[in-house]
This record gives sequence, C-alpha cells and structure tokens, in this order.
Amino acid sequence: RKRYALIDAFIFIHHCFCSCIFFVCVFLHHVIEQCRLSDRMSRRLIRTYQLYSRTSGKHVQVLGNKKVNAMGDDGAVHAKLVVETDTFGSRIRIKGAKTGYYICMNKTGKLIGKRKGRGKDCIFTEIVLENNYTALQNAKYEGWYMAFTRKGRPRKASRTKQHQREAHFMKRQPKGHLLVAFLTITHRNPVIKWALCGPHIKGHVIQ
Ligand SMILES: *[C@@H]1O[C@H](CO)[C@@H](O)[C@H](O)[C@H]1NC(C)=O
Ligand SMILES: *[C@@H]1O[C@H](CO)[C@@H](O)[C@H](O)[C@H]1NC(C)=O
Repeated sequence: RKRYALIDAFIFIHHCFCSCIFFVCVFLHHVIEQCRLSDRMSRRLIRTYQLYSRTSGKHVQVLGNKKVNAMGDDGAVHAKLVVETDTFGSRIRIKGAKTGYYICMNKTGKLIGKRKGRGKDCIFTEIVLENNYTALQNAKYEGWYMAFTRKGRPRKASRTKQHQREAHFMKRQPKGHLLVAFLTITHRNPVIKWALCGPHIKGHVIQ
C-alpha cells in the first residue's frame, strides 16, 4: 500500500511537472507571437474598406476566379478589401478579404488576382485628387491606373489617365460597419469573450 502511495505521488509530481512545462511553452509561444505581430504591425498598417467606383457606382471586388471588377454591391462579401500600407508613403497593396487574392496588373494592362502580392505589379500609389476622389497608379507600370467602365468591367490600364472618371474611387466602409467594428472589438476582448462564451468554450471558436 505504501508503495502504491509512492507511485501515486510520483505520478502526481510527474503530471505537475508536465503541466508546468506545457504552460511555460504556451506562455512563451504567446509572447513570441505577440512580439512578431507587433513587429509586423509597426511596419505595416492594415485597413479594411470598400472601393467605390465613380463610373460604375458599385464597388471593386476580387472574385474566386481571380477576376477583378467593380460590380460589387455595398456590403457584398467580395467587395470587402484588405488594404496594407507601408508606414511611410502612400503605397498600398489591396487584396480581397474573402479570396485573399491581391489586385495586380499584368503587362498588357489587365487587372488580375494573385495569391502572392510581393511584386511591384501588385502595389499601387494612392493619389488623392482635388475632387476628393482617389486614383490608384500602379507602381510597376507608372502612368497606368486602376479603372473600370460604367458596367464595372476593368479598363485596359494602358489607356487610362489620372483625370478620367473611370480611374476615380472613394474609400467607403460597408453599411452597418459600426456594428461589425463593435462585435470585432468585443470578440477580441478576452474578458468579454470569456463572459460571452463561458470558460468551457475554447478560444478557437471565436478568434
Ligand atoms: C494578362 O491578364 C489577362 C486577363 O487575365 C490575360 O488574358 C492575359 O493573357 C495576361 N497577359 C499576360 C501577358 O500575362
Ligand atoms: C474635399 O474634402 C475637403 C475636406 O473634407 C473639403 O473641405 C472640400 O470641400 C472637398 N472638396 C470637394 C471638391 O468636394
């Protein structure tokens, strides 16, 4: 009986030891992740908005087939864009929030979606015009702008000019974005998350 007690004690200590190691690892992992995240954030700013086309009256969207058009309704799932900005300058990279494809330009002046957006062909310079519209000039093909026809089809960029209405955009938040922002903030707050989900639901449900 004494021996069993000893073995039990040993197993107990072993469990404690393992748990400690586990929590230390989780903690370290968390710290490293946070550091990496803040490091990335300091170099890059990420915003989410829609691009309203002056000619089509609709929003730029990036579809699953890598096509880009300006036929998206306000609040449409493919019209939600994630825009990455360098901390310096007005150069941006735009990707569809849903598909993850970056909006890029190829050498024939067509807009295409690409999985990787590292190249200059996927970087645009934001130019805020006097009329408060924004034009987006490609960083690789200077003088070529993102532009859409009245029907929302992409215009061949080699035929675009900064003053053309086809190349004019407005940044816009989707309808009801305040509620979405509120939910995002509350879901990210660990205390509120805990209160909403209870302690028994693990973090992976809402992240
Ligand atoms: C440019 O993109 C268009 C549309 O996706 C495609 O049809 C064309 O072949 C591409 N041109 C080049 C040179 O990659
Ligand atoms: C552009 O926006 C500024 C600041 O919001 C405003 O003062 C100005 O009147 C606007 N210009 C036009 C042409 O709408």
